[in-house]
Amino acid sequence: MRLSQPLEKFVDECPIPEILKPKVKNHKGDYYEVTMEEMTQKLHRDLNPTRLWGYNGMYPGPTIEAEKDNLTLVKWINKLPDKHLLPVDKTIHGAMNHPEVRTVVHLHGGASPAPSDGYPEAWFTRDFKEVGPYFKRKIYQYPNLQRSAALWYHDHAMGITRLNVYAGLCGFYIIRDSHERSLNLPKGDYEIPLMIQDKSFNEDGSLYYPKQPANPSSTTPDPSITPFFCGDTILVNGKVWPYLEVEPRKYRFRLLNASNTRTFELKLDAGQSMYQIGTDGGFLQRPVKIDKLTLAPAERADVIIDFSQYEHQHLTLKNDSGCGGPVNPDTDANVMQFKVTRPLSAKDKSKIPSNLESSSTQAMPFVRSIRTLKLGQRSDEYGRPMLLLDNHQWEDPVTEKPQLGDTEIWSIVNPMGVTHSIHLHLVQFKILDRRPFDADIFNQTGRIVYTGSSVAPELNERGFKDTARAPAGQVTRIMVHFTPFTGRYVWHCHILEHEDYDMMRPYLVVKRRE
Ligand code: C2O
Ligand code: CU
Ligand code: CU
Repeated sequence: MRLSQPLEKFVDECPIPEILKPKVKNHKGDYYEVTMEEMTQKLHRDLNPTRLWGYNGMYPGPTIEAEKDNLTLVKWINKLPDKHLLPVDKTIHGAMNHPEVRTVVHLHGGASPAPSDGYPEAWFTRDFKEVGPYFKRKIYQYPNLQRSAALWYHDHAMGITRLNVYAGLCGFYIIRDSHERSLNLPKGDYEIPLMIQDKSFNEDGSLYYPKQPANPSSTTPDPSITPFFCGDTILVNGKVWPYLEVEPRKYRFRLLNASNTRTFELKLDAGQSMYQIGTDGGFLQRPVKIDKLTLAPAERADVIIDFSQYEHQHLTLKNDSGCGGPVNPDTDANVMQFKVTRPLSAKDKSKIPSNLESSSTQAMPFVRSIRTLKLGQRSDEYGRPMLLLDNHQWEDPVTEKPQLGDTEIWSIVNPMGVTHSIHLHLVQFKILDRRPFDADIFNQTGRIVYTGSSVAPELNERGFKDTARAPAGQVTRIMVHFTPFTGRYVWHCHILEHEDYDMMRPYLVVKRRE
């Protein structure tokens, strides 16, 4: 039985995931062991404990903190039961003929060597009893060569990523560096990661997830419906509609939308401004004052909120964007509440610097290739919906093979009715522009007829990104520098229901041919 009434809001305190301690720390790097386990956790005051899957038995998983250029080693251990917590759709290509429960961990936003990237077919079962065709190693290596940024780790097993992440397998991974430390930003207790997700529950407290997200109301898949899942309850750091008590001062929030399908449009209830200082891949050049923040699945934002003018007040973080329907004032219109009720413990000496990164005076790099990549959909031999990247499905031969060190422009053509959240592993890229075109003409003839001029990305999208929104009826162009590793990676839509239903492709970074 589905839970019929929305749970009461702002009655539970917002947890802050604990920072994981390395098992060994030496000149070689920091070594961790993380075990995936089934557990129960109380997600709301009035809800029975929920059975979940967590890293080290925690949802969200513990936060891993890394230092730039210092190696992080993680042994990911699978101790999950053999039966899945949620209904597995065995008709998905990637889920056929595979053990029901399998996992592989991906560091999202990380420039990881390919054998440690968490390739979807590098999965393994409990105690490594069975491993997928691309399984390479038990201990993953993260060299942390990139700038300070808030990344996240999550499950990426072929065909069941949406279920594994929804079950709780996700956590923060934060890279620090000396430049970040020089900026005098709010830190320590005043820097808080916030993982936002939507879920639905049954009356007994268990998670609700449909057997086929493609068509929740029927047993036969309908190829005309794009698979999606929208939960009716919003959680932050694993609590339903929580509150956070804060001091009247500046806070730095590392926001992450870890939902399966849902995009958020976040704003504070009275329209109070926030300052965005970073994107997926690190700092923006300058802070951007925003009243509204759009976060599609997997996007992150580094944001400062100054509570100094709001002593004794409650500020609600609201959401303006519906998911498969209009926002509901009783449910998904709310995210969490900040209660400015704590006394100021010390004068706030932190700053919002006017310059965050030295501006790159670099000229436009030499672009080796421009690829036009179309998003699309068709039904497969079983009449099941299947999403496609450039008309290819997962098993087709690799078509994207950039050379190491090359810069390419990828033009993502979206003639479909929904925005997709396009993510590339390994790299941090820049969004160049978006341009509307006639989707009907495209769908009939395959020709791109533009209906307007190109629009530059929003000011707060101009930093490094690993995930970009590709809106319906637009061509979104991104510029990607393929570095620092060769090997087999993937790119995909980060709407997890799309990813699992084939909207994912391998790509290869190949050695330079001089
Ligand atoms: Cu966040 Cu391919 O993943
Ligand atoms: Cu990723
Ligand atoms: Cu998509």
